[in-house]
Amino acid sequence: MISIENLAFTYPDGSRALDGLTLEIRKGTAAGIVGANGAGKSTLVNHLNGYLLPQEGLVRIDGIGVEKRNREAIHRIVGLLFQNPDDQLFTARVYDDLLFGPRNLDMDMNSATAESERLLREFGLWELRDKPPSHLSHGQKRFAALATVLVMKPRVLVMDEPTSDLDPRNRRKLIDLVRNFQATTVTVSHDLDFIWETCNEVFIMNAGKIVDGGPARELLSNRDLLERNGLELPLRLQGV
Ligand SMILES: Nc1ncnc2c1ncn2[C@@H]1O[C@H](COP(=O)(O)OP(=O)(O)O)[C@@H](O)[C@H]1O
Ligand SMILES: [Mg+2]
Repeated sequence: MISIENLAFTYPDGSRALDGLTLEIRKGTAAGIVGANGAGKSTLVNHLNGYLLPQEGLVRIDGIGVEKRNREAIHRIVGLLFQNPDDQLFTARVYDDLLFGPRNLDMDMNSATAESERLLREFGLWELRDKPPSHLSHGQKRFAALATVLVMKPRVLVMDEPTSDLDPRNRRKLIDLVRNFQATTVTVSHDLDFIWETCNEVFIMNAGKIVDGGPARELLSNRDLLERNGLELPLRLQGV
C-alpha cells in the first residue's frame, strides 16, 4: 500500500530530515513509527499525502507516485492527521471544517453531510459544531481534526502524535477507533503504550532512516534496541 525508496529531504535551512529512507507497508497493516525527537518522523509522514513532495527518491501509495500531478488522487486515498491540529482547522466553524475536504474533492455532499453529523456526535462535538475551532480545547481540536480526515473515508489513515493532548477516556476512544479501522493505518507516536495497543508492525527511525522494523510487540519489548534509538520500554513493561 505504501512503498518508499531512498527518500531524502532537506529543509531550506539545510537540516537533512530524511536521509535515504526505505519502507514498505502492506495493505491492512497497522503500522507504528517510533523514534526520538528530531528523527524525521513528521517529515516522513508529511510525504504520505503529498503535503511534502520528495526531493530525492520515490513514494508510492497503492502504486500512485506522490508527485504534484497526482496530489488529488493521493488526497482521496490518504488522510493525514497533522501533529498540530491548528494546521488542520482553518474555517470559522467546526462544521465547515468537516465539509471543506468533501467539497474540495467534489464528493457526494448528501453522504458527506450525513457522515459529518455522525462523526460530530460520535466524537462529542455536536454541541460545538458552530463554534470557531480556536475556541475548542486541545483534545476537542484533536478529535475535530480527526473528523475532518475520517469524513473523507481514507483507505490509509496517517496520524502524527495523535495522543499528546488526550485525557485517558479520549485516548481509549482513539485506541478503539484505530483498532476497528478497516484499512491501513500509520501512527507516529512517543506513546509506545498506544503503539503497543494499536499496531501490529513497528518501524524504528533514527537520523532520517528506518533502522529496524518487525512485529510490534517483539520490537517494543526489546530494551536494547529501543535505548540505542533514544527510546524507552512502554510503561506497561516497566512495571509502573
Ligand atoms: N520546517 C522546518 N525547517 C527546518 N528544519 C526542520 C523543519 N521541520 C523539521 N526540521 C528538522 O528536521 C529534523 C526532523 O524533524 P521532524 O521530522 O519534525 O522529526 P520528528 O517528528 O521525528 O521529531 C529535525 O532536525 C528538525 O529540526
Ligand atoms: Mg514530529
